[in-house]
Amino acid sequence: MAFEDILVERKGAVGVVTLNRPKALNALCTPLIDELGQALAELEADEAIRCIVLTGSEKAFAAGADIKEMKEKSYADVLDEDFITGDWEVVAHCRKPTIAAVAGFALGGGCEVAMMCDMILAAETARFGQPEIKLGTIPGAGGTQRLTRSVGKSLAMYLCLSGDMIDAETALRAGLVAKVLPAEGFLDEVMKVAETIASYSLPVLRTCKEAVNRAYETTLAEGVLFERRTFHGTFALEDRKEGMEAFAEKRKPNFKHR
Ligand code: CAA
Repeated sequence: MAFEDILVERKGAVGVVTLNRPKALNALCTPLIDELGQALAELEADEAIRCIVLTGSEKAFAAGADIKEMKEKSYADVLDEDFITGDWEVVAHCRKPTIAAVAGFALGGGCEVAMMCDMILAAETARFGQPEIKLGTIPGAGGTQRLTRSVGKSLAMYLCLSGDMIDAETALRAGLVAKVLPAEGFLDEVMKVAETIASYSLPVLRTCKEAVNRAYETTLAEGVLFERRTFHGTFALEDRKEGMEAFAEKRKPNFKHR
């Protein structure tokens, strides 16, 4: 289906969603978030897709929630709508692997949406920040929580309380970002990572992602037990057998995603 504020492409087994409100630096207005939810649901349901890339423009991944849309809302409005978290969490709930490909600004809700993805790959032009404090408010889509878990208290406090931005290299050192890539040919390099991920068995990708995410929600002992049982569970899959047989026979595995 055609969207107004995003573009959706299927490149082999990779779904690419591009935030596309260039005049507003991809500010995340409600219609855009609705479209993003629909697009992700379609890609989730598409059996041919095994990895999803979420990206923006060269100038901005997204400059945050749409301030112009938000500015007239009352407390009762945002409470009634459960503004931000209710709808936005679709990105975090995606069951296929997701990559945020960030060039330019990832601020406020932009940084928060990037952090909802499984990993962030950054162009060297990327800038991350939670500048809500400058607007008289605080992050509302997980910024204080996911950022703190990702980079630790001191840098999270610095970003949230000062409103300052960090560059891609700083984000890499802090663990917010998995890789920094040259701005030139950035999306081609991201696609190589996405295609590698998409070449693996989808049920194994799903369970692997669940196991990593478990680390955020539980104790080490429970997490390790969850991981071990999930690892055992892969032995019920044809693809686990195929992967090990292919290794022993020195050939490429032919995963059936079963
Ligand atoms: N919402 C609405 N419009 C925005 C926007 C936003 N978050 N960010 C940028 N825009 C608009 C600007 O208003 C401007 O529109 P006009 O041309 O109609 O004036 C256009 O995008 C281009 O922006 P600038 O002229 O400001 O571009 P710049 O290069 O000079 O500055 C910037 C870039 C530093 C990112 C600056 O635009 C900026 O500070 N944006 C706001 C960032 C921000 O505060 N984000 C947090 C939002 S609140 C939030 O996200 C809450 C949450 O936790 C979910």
